[in-house]
Amino acid sequence: SYGQNNIKLTDTQTDITINKHIYGHFAEHLGRCIYDGFYVGEANDSIAHTAGVRNDVVDALKKLQIPNLRWPGGCFADTYHWKDGIGSKEGRPSIVNSWWGGVTEDNSFGTHDFLNMCELLETEPYLAGNVGSGEVQELADWVQYVNFAGKSPMSDLRRENGREEPWNVKFWGVGNEAWGCGGNMTAEYYSDIYRKYATFMADWDNSGGLYRIASGANSADYHWTETLMKNIPNHLMKGVALHHYAVINWNKKGSSTKFSDEEYFKTMKSAWFMNELVEKHSAIMDKYDPQAKVDLVVDEWGGWYEVEPETNPGFLYQQNTMRDAMIAGMTLNIFNNHAKRVKMANLAQTINVLQAVILTNGKDMIVTPTYHVMEMYKVHQDAQLIPIELHSDTYKYGEEEIPAISASASKDKQGRVHISVVNIDPKAKKKVSLDLGGIKAKHLTGRILTTNNLREHNTFEQPNTVLPKEYKDAKLKDNQLEIDIPAHSVIVLELI
Ligand code: AHR
Repeated sequence: SYGQNNIKLTDTQTDITINKHIYGHFAEHLGRCIYDGFYVGEANDSIAHTAGVRNDVVDALKKLQIPNLRWPGGCFADTYHWKDGIGSKEGRPSIVNSWWGGVTEDNSFGTHDFLNMCELLETEPYLAGNVGSGEVQELADWVQYVNFAGKSPMSDLRRENGREEPWNVKFWGVGNEAWGCGGNMTAEYYSDIYRKYATFMADWDNSGGLYRIASGANSADYHWTETLMKNIPNHLMKGVALHHYAVINWNKKGSSTKFSDEEYFKTMKSAWFMNELVEKHSAIMDKYDPQAKVDLVVDEWGGWYEVEPETNPGFLYQQNTMRDAMIAGMTLNIFNNHAKRVKMANLAQTINVLQAVILTNGKDMIVTPTYHVMEMYKVHQDAQLIPIELHSDTYKYGEEEIPAISASASKDKQGRVHISVVNIDPKAKKKVSLDLGGIKAKHLTGRILTTNNLREHNTFEQPNTVLPKEYKDAKLKDNQLEIDIPAHSVIVLELI
């Protein structure tokens, strides 16, 4: 009676952990992400802040338990000279942000500002180094400045600028999109450049060494991953990146709120493509690294639409609807299920840019449907993966179809089992039967994120239109669960 939608929890004893770093975020010097987003300046007396960083933003992100934050880009990273952003703020040079709107950047938010902010957020920084327009020495110096405890030219400079202890930053990107804005390099050329830069980024801290991440493939560029895996030795590369955005058509991306049914389908199809991408890039990695020593790091993902009317096209400011909640729920399920190889990911971008979790407007701040999905899914962070078998109805549009249901499951350190289920079908509610296998649960609770209208979103006037609610449409009998999941909904169940 439960149609074709079945989920079976299989092995509850795997040794695969869903790395919390899959739930990472990304903050670039782009539009209103840093300035007017995170950072309003030390002199601001109308918005509550700590060293210029908005307190409401810090509180909201701490509720998500964001595990890491990537900075300063993106494309900006390969134009960024970190020495411009240290020392007295009055003395810092102004530069032009050539990728994003051609605006003047006064460098008032630099290395100290970012790394201290990460301490406030209780999150791990992920610094993206400049390979495109920087020098080897410059990046080597940055690592020394940030991570060296002893006496050296760079650590002395850090102390002069007010910071005694090193920050011991583990995650370092060696350039960004080297195939594009990072220098339009070939995979072969970048592999050599990577080896050189990575060699001089020294392991100053004694906490297990730097986690160097190679700039990865653009979506389905499998040659890129293959070349990096073939040409870069494991000891120099802990992670290889991948970027993929859910986009309808790069030349006609469509509105973030006023989208047609066809545009919705195309967005879902592009988001679902992540499953194939992760599997195919992983298969290449398996070939060169069968012991899985190198991680797949999806350090840019999310929905990308036209900017909101009357906003700067270079600022990438877009609204965020239940469509984005669908992208987030589905994509995080994909990452969880591939947690053996995918160890880290970064949603693009945290505030006011692309698929943001937070939007700000002067003093006001709201959270988006994507925020709520991240908050509901945080239970999977560092939990043990429970692999599933899934049979789903299809969601069809014209001649094309993709699965309507996606899901993932995990067991946390207290033994609680969490199952996240997403129904992307915009019209049809689904019945799903869930076989819990060997799990004997006594108590079931759940939360749901859904709306009557798929295009619903939160606004500054109505910030709570999209909000998670208690979910009660599940029946538990023995080790079998039957759930009703409305159209375009995300559910997270907890079994004790
Ligand atoms: O996230 C916006 C941009 O998208 C990043 O700067 C770049 O890496 C990617 O092309």
